[in-house]
Amino acid sequence: MMRIYLIGYMGSGKSSVGKKLAHRMNYAFLDLDEYLENDQKKSVSELFAEKGEAAFRMLERMALHHTFSLENCIISTGGGTPVYFDNIDLMKKHGLCIYLKASIDVVLNRLQHHLDTRPLLAKLSKEELAEFIQNQLIERSPFYEKATIHIDAKNLTPAQLHQQINLWKEASNSI
Ligand code: S3P
Repeated sequence: MMRIYLIGYMGSGKSSVGKKLAHRMNYAFLDLDEYLENDQKKSVSELFAEKGEAAFRMLERMALHHTFSLENCIISTGGGTPVYFDNIDLMKKHGLCIYLKASIDVVLNRLQHHLDTRPLLAKLSKEELAEFIQNQLIERSPFYEKATIHIDAKNLTPAQLHQQINLWKEASNSI
């Protein structure tokens, strides 16, 4: 039984590549933000606006706890999930954590048409955006880097990701 957590910054491709990977591995797929939105019947942006970020982080943590009972599942997390509470340690305890490592250019490029659904970024001007992301990448990297597998998010295919998982499985079986 495997449970796989995809972690990394907004726009690193966790959800899109995760969905395809799940299909390829014949695993279930869960997007943590989507689960939370369905559970709360509100969008992430609405939750930030109405309850504030601290409340959102509590809900996100509860959603994460729900995933510990899922089997053979790929879970795409939110960009901030590994950064709060003991979330990263719990994800490592309950599954295999994979960091999709994206540069600022990749993030900016992928997010440019999807800023409205990211409350942390939505209000920033174009000039502020790059600096904000740069700072957050620096702050968050130590948490992301706790993942067992690190992989370059640029042009990442589900096949590549699958191969990395198989290599890791072989290596951990041979210990
Ligand atoms: C956030 C990332 C978002 C979402 C929320 C906060 C963050 O998820 O959870 O807007 O703190 O980086 P994605 O990484 O799926 O965009």
